[in-house]
Amino acid sequence: RFSNSLKSIARDQHLKTYLQNSSELYPLLAKGAKRFVAGERREDGLVRAKEFHTQGHAVSLEYIGENTITKEECVRSKEEFKGLITDLGRLGMKATVSFDLSHIGMMVSDDLAFIHLEELASAAAKNGISLMISMEESQKTDRILSLYKRISKTHSNVGITLQVHLNRTSIDLEDILSLSGNIRLVKGAYQEGEEQYIPRSSELNNRYIHFVTTCLEHDHPISVATHDETILTELKKKDLLRNPRVEVEMLDGVRPDLLRRLHDEDVNTKVYVTYGSEWYLYVVHRIAEYPPNIYTFISDVIEE
Ligand code: FDA
Repeated sequence: RFSNSLKSIARDQHLKTYLQNSSELYPLLAKGAKRFVAGERREDGLVRAKEFHTQGHAVSLEYIGENTITKEECVRSKEEFKGLITDLGRLGMKATVSFDLSHIGMMVSDDLAFIHLEELASAAAKNGISLMISMEESQKTDRILSLYKRISKTHSNVGITLQVHLNRTSIDLEDILSLSGNIRLVKGAYQEGEEQYIPRSSELNNRYIHFVTTCLEHDHPISVATHDETILTELKKKDLLRNPRVEVEMLDGVRPDLLRRLHDEDVNTKVYVTYGSEWYLYVVHRIAEYPPNIYTFISDVIEE
């Protein structure tokens, strides 16, 4: 309940505008956000990505944003992602660029989202980069999957995120296993109707492990995107983590200790790095999904 209340408060536009206009509060919040977000500029994201790359981790990069409602904003976001892809190519970094389809056009129309997706996929292919489509709330799942299937016909460098907590996902997974794009499994970050999903529980963890096994039975590449040590330990026991088709992907700043340990154990590891001026909602989500982060956030803010 705390988590959902926090997310609703964060979506309040008045509060957001007030904070952004507050010359005292905004810099403090930005200081606390640094643990989870590289900075506001693309350059900040690239610097952070290079650090992880040098440490031996693969990297996913996201320019933060979602639910972009005008065509002009969608074009601007798409151009930012294109610039990011070109820069990554120039730096010779084999990375993944990750985004919400609602950030690049889906709120305007599926056709606009597809045109932008295709442009990004072609630019990414030229630069040796892969793309990963994030999964949004369940009202959008059908449209996102349909755009993913459409792009998969021409581009094998585009992957898709599936939310294990949704009951429909076992069918969706079967449906896309024949496509070549990487599958990223996440537990799911959105509040859904009771009949649509199962909450955090051992049942959810077992389902997660079952989906990983299913992907590997089909020899399908997979990102195990979780910080849950119980799941990771279980996968390790089953000797599934060091499979070359598997990478373990974690959000920057969430469990760096665990990620380093897995890397030292020869597991393929990946860090999800974010940047952009829309960091506020992203950071509130990180606190909402793990409330003890509020203490870390406050201590980062007050640290000299
Ligand atoms: P869970 O929430 O059960 O947490 C397990 C344990 O991990 C906690 O007990 C704690 O120890 C640690 N932990 C988790 N979150 C933490 C935090 N913020 N700070 C500190 N510790 C924390 N969701 C979505 O709906 N669509 C998407 O496209 C994506 N994309 C995505 C990409 C990547 C790379 C990751 C890692 C995650 C996502 N997510 C997502 C978010 C995902 O759905 C989920 O909300 C978070 O990963 C948290 O879930 P866990 O699997 O970590 O388990």
